[in-house]
Amino acid sequence: ENVFQGRSVLAEKDFSAAELEYLIDFGLHLKTLKKMGIQHHYLEGKNIALLFEKSSTRTRSAFTTAAIDLGAHPEYLGQNDIQLGKKETTSDTAKVLGSMFDGIEFRGFKQSDAEILARDSGVPVWNGLTDEWHPTQMLADFMTVKENFGHLKGLTLTFMGDGRNNVANSLLVTGAILGVNIHIVAPKELFPTQETQDLAKKFATESGAKLLITDDLDEGMKGSNIVYTDVWVSMGESNWEQRVNLLKPYQVNMEALKKTGTPDDQLIFMHCLPAFHNTDTKYGEDVKEKYGITEMEVTDEVFNSKYARQFEEAENRMHSIKAMMAATLGNLFIPRV
Ligand code: CP
Ligand code: NVA
Repeated sequence: ENVFQGRSVLAEKDFSAAELEYLIDFGLHLKTLKKMGIQHHYLEGKNIALLFEKSSTRTRSAFTTAAIDLGAHPEYLGQNDIQLGKKETTSDTAKVLGSMFDGIEFRGFKQSDAEILARDSGVPVWNGLTDEWHPTQMLADFMTVKENFGHLKGLTLTFMGDGRNNVANSLLVTGAILGVNIHIVAPKELFPTQETQDLAKKFATESGAKLLITDDLDEGMKGSNIVYTDVWVSMGESNWEQRVNLLKPYQVNMEALKKTGTPDDQLIFMHCLPAFHNTDTKYGEDVKEKYGITEMEVTDEVFNSKYARQFEEAENRMHSIKAMMAATLGNLFIPRV
């Protein structure tokens, strides 16, 4: 028996707390094997398609190295390489890819495209980020939290920034499923949609997670163990000026971290990356000229502080994606969890 076999990973809501925790723990186990140099060829002979409509450093690298470590062959299919959504329907692409590949990673704009791929390819589809959700990021993130604190339940994670982007949505719902308290601190205009809030609330009643959505920094930061942020302008967004003005007060800086009131050894900072934390990026330079700021969602000081865990988090993308692919495609024996 294997409760994961053949399943797609499109959104967190499709998985129970026990299932998510199983994948997180499996990721930690595979990380140990990797560090010890012990082979784990669970996907020997499999072919994996990596479909990207948007650019990526971490997700692409993680899927590629994870597939190779598992003994599978990854094939990158970029936005300009294939016909997806241009000369043929997503459904037709799904049928073709499903006849050749054993699993498909999809990063794109529309969640509905991920759903069509899963419905019509007949093979597991893993969502590598859409405008709505970023589930593989969540496996790495809660794996990183567990590594740092030894447990998940009862911790408080505060996301400050664009409260209705894919990462904020995913943190809210995943925390609610896992019993991790989630605070979203954002300007009212960027609160999660009512639909996302309702979904999270439903899970929170079952898990006991406390959810707080507020535009008040003092209230939102108080008692946090994990302070998390993400870019103010996600891929596919363009309204720079409006977002910068709305989000300026919601920068993660040392002052904001102090508002948590949490002892140093119980507090970490996380960021899914890429981050705009100084003017080294071309991006930052434009922002400096136009809006007079040199740092955006997080200051260089916090990014380089003892609280920072963003690079462990990035590494964990590979270990956790490996766990997810092996569990859904590896014919493993996984007793019902
Ligand atoms: N965190 C993340 O998904 O990074 P990439 O966009 O580089 O894949
Ligand atoms: N919210 C960001 C996440 C990048 C990993 C985006 O969608 O661009």
